[in-house]
Amino acid sequence: MLRTKIAGIGHYVPEKVVTNNDLTRVMDTSDEWIQERTGIKERRYGTKHKETTSTMGTRAAEIAIERAGIQKEDIDFIIFATLSPDYYFPGCGVLLQRELGITKTEIGALDIRNQCSGFVYGLSIADQFIKSGMYKNVLLVGAEMHSMGLEFTTKGRNVTVIFGDGAGAVVLQPTEEEGKGVLTTKLHSDGTYAEKLAFISPGSHGGYHHDKMGLDTDFGFGDEEFGEIFLNHHMIDNNMHYPNMEGQFVFKLAVQKFPEVIMEALTEAGLTPADIDMLVPHQANLRISQFVQKRMGLRDDQVWNNIQKYGNTTAASIPIALCEAWEAGAVKEGDLVCLAAFGSGFTWGSALIRF
Ligand code: COA
Repeated sequence: MLRTKIAGIGHYVPEKVVTNNDLTRVMDTSDEWIQERTGIKERRYGTKHKETTSTMGTRAAEIAIERAGIQKEDIDFIIFATLSPDYYFPGCGVLLQRELGITKTEIGALDIRNQCSGFVYGLSIADQFIKSGMYKNVLLVGAEMHSMGLEFTTKGRNVTVIFGDGAGAVVLQPTEEEGKGVLTTKLHSDGTYAEKLAFISPGSHGGYHHDKMGLDTDFGFGDEEFGEIFLNHHMIDNNMHYPNMEGQFVFKLAVQKFPEVIMEALTEAGLTPADIDMLVPHQANLRISQFVQKRMGLRDDQVWNNIQKYGNTTAASIPIALCEAWEAGAVKEGDLVCLAAFGSGFTWGSALIRF
């Protein structure tokens, strides 16, 4: 039976370390508050003119490609997950292709917009392509340059302190080795609460969703016959071009959906939480991961957390954490690894992989 295995993995984080105390220079917050609520001590920020979402993804991909023992020309499909693309369009997949120096055009490049669950969604897509025999080397990348789009004021503090920059990548290949590879992936979505964690403007919404939901939000649209919908001065003047989040709402749903979707995958595979060698949860908040660990009855050595160093790197968080766990020898050949994510949309998902 054809399954999908991780043949190589890599990650990249920018050099610049930003501590909680550094953030107190631009907003009313404290190291104590941030650590107590999120577990985060520091995060990395990319540097203008030097790093972007796609270049960080490329650096991670180069390591994954080398570890897979293939050449970049062997890649036959790219999947790029991010919510902070270099350009609104085209996507980061083609920018990574160019940055990697892949000039052959017999290759597809797909961008996916599933925020924190982007990597799990990407893995599921890659798995279908590989199991069907269509592709032999799929490059899956999760990368984020949040620091370019956060609000560095007290108004934006609830969102800004959480997020950081970085990238992770895997090369996925078919394997016929008994019991090895991706055992299952589970994907979910519920658009009911799309605006609870969202980056609304600029966008082509034209106020539609807010009108429909009876939300009294003034986007400052004028009475021009054409245009002006995407971004206007009112939005900029009122700092509406930043992400917003109802933190407690997100928290409550996350602690419910993580265990549910992990159990769903385990049950389908005929396994239990005790069979998990390593759970690599999306690094949303250390409190969420600790809650999930307790609910699943997992020991400390069965869960990988690194949010303390990097903050929440959204689509990059799972591949960065998985890569670090693998590099530390905490994920070895034969181990059962569970990936799980929840985020904006809301979308959530899980994957079980036998290494
Ligand atoms: N520093 C200091 N105070 C802050 C702050 C910060 N960075 N951010 C918010 N506050 C303040 C609020 O203004 C509020 O003050 P008030 O009581 O005077 O109005 C107070 O802290 C409590 O705010 P609240 O939003 O209720 O805090 P919380 O305990 O829910 O913690 C989060 C906020 C964001 C840490 C928490 O809700 C969370 O982690 N949610 C999940 C977020 C997440 O995982 N997102 C990614 C999903 S993939």
